[in-house]
Amino acid sequence: MSIAEERPGDEHVRRVHVRAPGKINLFLGVGDLDEDGYHELSTVFQAVSLYEDVIATPADDFTIAVSGVADPDAVPLDDRNLAMRAAKVLAAATGYDGGVHLDVRKSVPVAGGMGGGSADAAAALVACNELWRTGVDHGRLHELAARLGADVPFALMGGTAVGSGRGDVLTPALSRGRYEWVLVLDDEGLSTPSVYRAFDLVMAEDLQADPARHAQRRSADPVQVPPSFFEALLSGDPFALGQSLRNQLQAGSFRLRPQLEELIDRVRDSTAVVGGIVSGSGPTVAFLCESATGADAVAERLREQGRTALRAHGPVRGAHVVSTES
Ligand code: C5P
Repeated sequence: MSIAEERPGDEHVRRVHVRAPGKINLFLGVGDLDEDGYHELSTVFQAVSLYEDVIATPADDFTIAVSGVADPDAVPLDDRNLAMRAAKVLAAATGYDGGVHLDVRKSVPVAGGMGGGSADAAAALVACNELWRTGVDHGRLHELAARLGADVPFALMGGTAVGSGRGDVLTPALSRGRYEWVLVLDDEGLSTPSVYRAFDLVMAEDLQADPARHAQRRSADPVQVPPSFFEALLSGDPFALGQSLRNQLQAGSFRLRPQLEELIDRVRDSTAVVGGIVSGSGPTVAFLCESATGADAVAERLREQGRTALRAHGPVRGAHVVSTES
């Protein structure tokens, strides 16, 4: 049904505003490559309070505008845009034959390893489902989300969750408390596939250099989330979680951008910081802090050193409707 064919009695929705969070991988274990070129993952996601806002309005076509980015060229406005793809996937799945205009307002760093594009896709799915009154249930939305990208289902779900498979098979995880983060941005993004390729290279070199040591390292480096990690999450104690943070994929990010490792080593031991890791594939680095005031001070110090440092807390809820206008 296009906007011109509204049925009498239908409540015509004019505008839907949906918000979806960025994420940090608190734990990321990387396993083997599957036949489709994806790695088997074991990960724990936490949704954090940097948000993508998507405003959907009726249109006969599919169009998109993006704001909130320093470099407008960094975000494509065609079918490479994950929000645009999400709208089209939902239309195809439901037989909806109209379109939508998506106004995407970004706060999650672009190509930063925090799932900003995935949050856009999750928000677009929820917004179009509401705008078009397509009534797709939660389970089916999750399936469509998984088709769009490995991190999209988590942006729908939010909170804290364990991801397995490609990271798209989700189980909610119990977590207590609120965690305070400082996120340090890099000027230039990193592409996720290139970081996975760099990770594979590091592993291959390690294997070649000393097979016995490599085997030992890989077995000491669990792909499964260890029970102690869940205990830390449940304790609500930032010190315990800070000690448990782990991102195996950061070996790939460090290979492409060695400064990230230097930054983590330098800041990790600062007062108020209890742990530091690359967020997902990077290059954003996430520092967990002992308190909100401590985190504010750490962010301020980093800004004085010329860094772009953002504050966030987690966990927060997944993609949700903020307002609907009929
Ligand atoms: O699913 P998504 O589009 O986020 O993945 C982007 C790329 O990251 C994939 O094409 C793949 O190269 C890499 N990737 C991977 N293993 C995963 C997730 C992503 O190798 N579990």
